[in-house]
Amino acid sequence: MPRPAGSGKPVGTVTRGTTGHNRLRRSDRWIAAVHGGLLRAADRPLVVDLGYGASHTTTLELFTRLRRVAPTVEVVGIEIDPARVAVAKPYEREGLSFRLGGFELPVPRPPTLVRAFNVLRQYGEAEAWRYWDLLRSELAPGGVLVEGTSSENGRRAVWVGLSPEGPRTVTFSARFDAFERPSDLADRLPKTLIHRNVPGERIHAFLSDFDHAWAVSVPYGVHGLRQRWLASVQLLARSWPVPPRPPLGGAARWRLGELTLPWTAVSPSQVV
Ligand SMILES: C[S@@+](CC[C@H](N)C(=O)[O-])C[C@H]1O[C@@H](n2cnc3c(N)ncnc32)[C@H](O)[C@@H]1O
Repeated sequence: MPRPAGSGKPVGTVTRGTTGHNRLRRSDRWIAAVHGGLLRAADRPLVVDLGYGASHTTTLELFTRLRRVAPTVEVVGIEIDPARVAVAKPYEREGLSFRLGGFELPVPRPPTLVRAFNVLRQYGEAEAWRYWDLLRSELAPGGVLVEGTSSENGRRAVWVGLSPEGPRTVTFSARFDAFERPSDLADRLPKTLIHRNVPGERIHAFLSDFDHAWAVSVPYGVHGLRQRWLASVQLLARSWPVPPRPPLGGAARWRLGELTLPWTAVSPSQVV
């Protein structure tokens, strides 16, 4: 998809600016672990945080966490609301800047990674697919778009990893005290999946199986909810293509209350 003309109005609409400290900690940790190597390997790695909201907080946190794994990374926070850009500007520093813009991504070179959290959920389903396509087309070769949704306090989140070619992974992540059953994560599904959580769709079958695995793994709960989650994931792996090894899978990730699947395992039967 071509880039919209450079000098025009930012592409998109101003939406609610809700954000908060550590709201995106779970996905920051995943990005650093899974895509740290990509950022280290890139020549002048650029990361965009699209739609950072009413304060600079989550962009600064992303910058701090990524600098630990990729010391030369540059992060640009992009917001479509000029007032929110003005609020963030005083927090600029070497390697971290904020600017006005939208889905057209007004940055000097193609980003290695774009993070957009709690942004597309406020658009329609068909628009979400369209903006996925636009954002993918703006990535550097081999780059990644991480698009997701979290609860307000960040204890539950679901995100999709996309390459320039299309969606690749979906990750479910929750603090162990933040849900009763894994399907409680359904209210955090990205816009492209949330309306597909109905019988007959893969995402619905997966969440039902996850609930079942969680229910039959209850005896492991005597050793704590982490052990119960690990047992549930191992059970699920018998019938779902759970990546068994790092960076996407393996006990080191699952014990965080995380589970990543290939996108094709849950993709909708038809795209709107
Ligand atoms: C709910 S806040 C999310 C803030 C932060 N990402 C978080 O998860 O805590 C969504 C923000 O995205 C902004 N936004 C919506 N569409 C956008 C677009 N096309 N380009 C840039 N920002 C956008 C809104 O103005 C709003 O400030």
